[in-house]
Amino acid sequence: MINEGANLTKDADVIVETQPSNTMMPSDEVRSPQPNKFIAIAIAFVMMAIAIAIWLLRPPLDPYTQSVLSLSGDPVQGRSIFVMNCVACHGQWANGKVGPSLHGVSERKSDAKLVQQVVSGETPPMPQFQPSPQDMADLLSYLKQL
Ligand code: HEC
Repeated sequence: MINEGANLTKDADVIVETQPSNTMMPSDEVRSPQPNKFIAIAIAFVMMAIAIAIWLLRPPLDPYTQSVLSLSGDPVQGRSIFVMNCVACHGQWANGKVGPSLHGVSERKSDAKLVQQVVSGETPPMPQFQPSPQDMADLLSYLKQL
């Protein structure tokens, strides 16, 4: 009785171990890389499509900002507009006082963002300015050379 039981277990082990390893493994190795590659390409494609969709659906610039960006500014004029309106907070040479230093600000913010910063009044205590498009273009060209 004891021997028979032992033999049965042994036989079962042999069947489980030998059969699958000879027949299943090779075909698995051939098949698995292709679906993985396909999934990776599909994910990359979907992400690119989403990025393009976000770019296409970005809000258009408002007409004011558009006209500012279409004008070429004069940094000397911009400097005098800055002295009249901005130095109280940003300092005589834009080094910062109440407001932050503006040196290198154009590397951190796009042209459109700089225009928004000046005309929006969204970051109190900085007031909302309403310069003409040409004045704003001049101011922008001054900010960009800081
Ligand atoms: C009453 C004070 C005040 C005046 C006047 C003022 N600002 Fe500011 N400005 C600030 C403050 C405070 C901030 C920081 C706002 C924040 O990000 O919370 C700021 C931020 C900015 C920034 C963004 C800086 C950054 O690092 O992102 C720009 C650009 C700027 N001001 C330009 C100007 C210009 C140009 C003028 C003049 C037309 C002006 N400011 C006048 C107080 C002022």
